[in-house]
Amino acid sequence: MLKVAIAGLGTVGCGVIAMVQGNGPLSRAVTITGVTARTKDRARPVDVSAYRWFDDPVALAADAETDVFVELMGGSEGTAKDTVEAALKAGKCVVTANKALLADHGEALAALAAAHGGELRYEAAIAGGIPVVKALREGLAANQIDAVCGVLNGTCNYILTEMSNTGRAFSDVLAEAQSLGYAEADPTLDVSGADAGHKLSLLGALAFSGKPDFGSMLLEGITGIEPIDLETAAFLGFRIKLLAKAMRDGDAVVQSVRPTLLKADHPIARIDGPLNAVVIDAEPVGRISLVGRGAGAGPTASAVAGDLMDLSHGDQRPVFAGPGSGGVMSAGVAGTQVGRFYLRLRVADQPGRIAAVTEALAKHGVSIESFLQKPPEDATRVPIALTTQPVAEPSLRAAIADLQSGSIVTEPPLLMPIEL
Ligand SMILES: NC(=O)c1ccc[n+]([C@@H]2O[C@H](COP(=O)([O-])OP(=O)(O)OC[C@H]3O[C@@H](n4cnc5c(N)ncnc54)[C@H](OP(=O)(O)O)[C@@H]3O)[C@@H](O)[C@H]2O)c1
Repeated sequence: MLKVAIAGLGTVGCGVIAMVQGNGPLSRAVTITGVTARTKDRARPVDVSAYRWFDDPVALAADAETDVFVELMGGSEGTAKDTVEAALKAGKCVVTANKALLADHGEALAALAAAHGGELRYEAAIAGGIPVVKALREGLAANQIDAVCGVLNGTCNYILTEMSNTGRAFSDVLAEAQSLGYAEADPTLDVSGADAGHKLSLLGALAFSGKPDFGSMLLEGITGIEPIDLETAAFLGFRIKLLAKAMRDGDAVVQSVRPTLLKADHPIARIDGPLNAVVIDAEPVGRISLVGRGAGAGPTASAVAGDLMDLSHGDQRPVFAGPGSGGVMSAGVAGTQVGRFYLRLRVADQPGRIAAVTEALAKHGVSIESFLQKPPEDATRVPIALTTQPVAEPSLRAAIADLQSGSIVTEPPLLMPIEL
């Protein structure tokens, strides 16, 4: 029996304990040596009274009776970091669902695990119940990965799906998501794209570089998306998703989280509501799509439990071992590649406005593929939405800057990449 300490008795911690207390495989592989949380006497969906209680999480992390420390408290600094470091320094294995911690400190923690002979597992940190870490580090270990992309934040996907289905505004749907418990009271981490970025940094490490690199990522959130964008995208045969993507670009890996127009038949285009999806393009396997629930007690506990089962079988491998861990890839600059784009502008209701837009684009070598002018909202707000043919993004941005320096464009434009 693997001797396991559990720090954090919230959604995920209680989900894991429920599996240990059930009669499935985890109940036969694991015994709980101690637990901790902020508050001891709190009503919880599982009974933890039989376990040793630790007021000090760091003491639990270093407890001599424990083989594996399971960190389910959250946060990239403070107690989560202190406990994981303490457990690894004590030569223990660690299992965590904490993407923020690993995005910021994954490389240092991996070095600590290697130095002290411990393991650090994090299947639950990416896409909840979808076993994508296993897919990359085991099933695809001998492939060359060309791209990994996914819908990795259920809150954003829920909001975009609702906006698309009902035509309601972002703020309206966000408020509803908060009242239903699908979004945090402070939703910044989710809607800014940072949470998806934390997860993407781990996928990028496994697929390409062997170490998480959150810092060089291009992050764009969903707050600027309006019903008009979803409506226009649908009219043109696209769906808008917050797409997290890491891809090979020569010798570099380029990582971004951006609202993106996906052709309706793309495997991710129909992933709706709180679901997550990951699509991997690799050689020689081709394209693989994984879909499932990205959050919640059951899916996330399933991923934690999978790591515990592996450890109970004595499985050992370097923390970011995957197809990318053998080669060195530099960080490329996202936002400089050639691609097709969607651009939404609001312009003044005056003669010559369309010519001004098309001339600015032509001056920078941007060819238009489709062009839609919507009815004026008022005298200063005539929406124009267009899609481009393939163009280097900096050229398109230069054209947008020219337009913004004139008097035609009345609001900051919205630019989104298109994936076919
Ligand atoms: N929820 C999900 O669906 C999901 C999915 C994927 C990954 N994750 C990750 O899993 C981790 C846990 O998430 P969760 O949703 O289970 O969180 P949660 O429901 O808020 O639970 C957090 C638990 O940690 C305890 N805790 C927090 N700070 C602590 C501290 N300084 N010292 C001791 N205990 C502390 C809390 O104690 P009290 O009970 O006393 O408040 C609570 O039991 C996070 O890293 C999260 O990002 C969650």
